Amino acid sequence: MKELVIATKNPDKKREIIRLLGGLRIKVISLDRYPGCPDVKEGSRSFRENAVRKAMAVSRFTGKPALADDSGLETDALNGRPGVRSSRFAGRGATYAQNNCKLLRMLAGRKAEHRGAQFRCVVAVCDYPRLAGTVEGRIRGRIAFAPKGRYGFGYDPVFIVPRYGKTFAQLGPKIKHRISHRARALRKAKKLIVKTAIKAPSRLPQDKSSGKSLISLCPCL
Ligand code: IMP
Repeated sequence: MKELVIATKNPDKKREIIRLLGGLRIKVISLDRYPGCPDVKEGSRSFRENAVRKAMAVSRFTGKPALADDSGLETDALNGRPGVRSSRFAGRGATYAQNNCKLLRMLAGRKAEHRGAQFRCVVAVCDYPRLAGTVEGRIRGRIAFAPKGRYGFGYDPVFIVPRYGKTFAQLGPKIKHRISHRARALRKAKKLIVKTAIKAPSRLPQDKSSGKSLISLCPCL
């Protein structure tokens, strides 16, 4: 069976991605199998660029096709913040609770109609050095006045899905995995995965220093 490495060290995102990829005839491999895999700095201003950088770095290191997700929360009142800085909104190493607390403090005094927000998720699939593509999923909602619910992770306790009038953390995984930004992105990504990791011919052995196929480097072939 063909393999795909999930390029994330965030156990919450990994769990969701693995569940959402269910049904594909593919062996999903966790990055835990590659403890030496270097961290990719998320320095850029776009989810897409971060996702591509992570997928490329992991595919290059592992020698296997890789999928990376870069995601976050954008609020209207804060001009899109925290955005690409979602995981470190309250500082490097901040906990989910600290990030939520900072967000609620910054939105204090704003009425429900001025608390609009969206989750975005960009997924990149690549087989180094080839980028199969990127896809995006979004979901609109609004920020609650206080955290509610016990499921999920990150900003789930403060993100209200208007159709249900409940936060993702109250709705639980069954509903979240049907409608979330990540679910929408991964549904689109399945086509890229099939093209890249399932139907693509097995990789030729590669030269580590140049990244070129050993067969194409061999003058007699
Ligand atoms: P990164 O993609 O690893 O930079 O992290 C994205 C950050 O955005 C996470 O640490 C969470 O704070 C937030 N985030 C992304 N997706 C979700 C989600 O589905 N629920 C709640 N928070 C999320």
